[in-house]
Amino acid sequence: MVWIKLLIIFIMKIWNFGIIGAGLIADFHAKAIQSLENSRLVGICSSNPNKARHIAEKYNCNIFKNPSELLRSDEIEIVTIATPSGAHMEPTIEAAKYGKHVICEKPLEISLERIDKMIEAHNKAGTKLGGIFNYRYHDSFKYMKSAVDDGRFGTITYASISVPWWRSDDYYKDSWHGTLKLDGGGALMNQAIHMIDILQHLIGPVNSLQAYIATLGHSIEVEDTATAVLKFKNNALGVIYGSTASFPGQFRRIEITGTKGTAIQEENSFKIWQFADQTEADNEIFNRFHQIEGGGGVSDPGAIPFEPHAKNIAAFIDSIETGIPFEINGHEARKAVEIVLAIYTSAREKRPFNFL
Ligand SMILES: NC(=O)c1ccc[n+]([C@@H]2O[C@H](COP(=O)([O-])OP(=O)(O)OC[C@H]3O[C@@H](n4cnc5c(N)ncnc54)[C@H](O)[C@@H]3O)[C@@H](O)[C@H]2O)c1
Repeated sequence: MVWIKLLIIFIMKIWNFGIIGAGLIADFHAKAIQSLENSRLVGICSSNPNKARHIAEKYNCNIFKNPSELLRSDEIEIVTIATPSGAHMEPTIEAAKYGKHVICEKPLEISLERIDKMIEAHNKAGTKLGGIFNYRYHDSFKYMKSAVDDGRFGTITYASISVPWWRSDDYYKDSWHGTLKLDGGGALMNQAIHMIDILQHLIGPVNSLQAYIATLGHSIEVEDTATAVLKFKNNALGVIYGSTASFPGQFRRIEITGTKGTAIQEENSFKIWQFADQTEADNEIFNRFHQIEGGGGVSDPGAIPFEPHAKNIAAFIDSIETGIPFEINGHEARKAVEIVLAIYTSAREKRPFNFL
């Protein structure tokens, strides 16, 4: 009934958002916020006022001069952080001081010390800190997660991710991509981190790893190619591969295999979805997710859909409304960064890295 829907919208709490940073991903945040019935974009700020103006005009919201001015707005309740990765901490901590909830882009930050300060600030303020890992909100991963949780792979023997992407030299020409100070790393910290998060989300904690990193295709401070072999705490073995030097860029891939099943996914499309106890529902899942959708950012960071961001933000709002801990809270978003940093340590020190 249309009038019931209108009544629900009328009495629904609308959450007011501000965005800090106004580059490529801020546009996705604005579009995602405006697509949700219970959220509204109040304003944006950026160190580059022209970029802030562009988004403000496009989405009809206010421009604030700087993060402090935006955070002082009584209207704004939730802030999204869309600044370069090594500039997430300062606005996130300041937002906590102003009592604002924060949902922050991946990686949460580029060092564990900085992430821990962000978590502590929000714990102290009683506000929520959430991470954006939009790839998790592709439906296909929900089926993989349920299959793992239900033990349908039997003993998981091997799990791997591969992100063989391409970024041109131009991509690295701006002020922050490829720098230690603001990107904190390369193909892993910026790109493959999405799939590293999904790998740890599905398989669980890593016990130890041994890694190599290299800079082979670009003149940058950080790695554009990386490999690691892993042992998970559940005894499964695994591999991580990430690159931005793999022209023309190929689909990301995840594989989980065990004594009773195998799932292989490219982009969000299942290549194999097969279990010893195969059901008709499995065949339906396979057929539903058999087509590849889109290029998924293999060579163009902007070639991603905005809907997963909208689902990520909607889930964060739900967690605020229900009081249930957010599924990608600060501690959860920290885990992928911890794995990436362990890979860097292993490669630099030429030794296995053992997690505690
Ligand atoms: N989830 C995804 O799929 C995805 C995709 C791309 C980027 N990202 C992440 O989003 C973040 C931003 O990336 P981007 O590609 O939008 O970068 P970008 O360079 O396009 O935009 C960054 C913006 O932040 C502004 N800025 C820089 N320092 C600031 C500060 N201290 N205060 C306020 N504004 C500041 C810049 O002027 C610019 O407007 C990064 O952490 C990146 O890893 C996520």
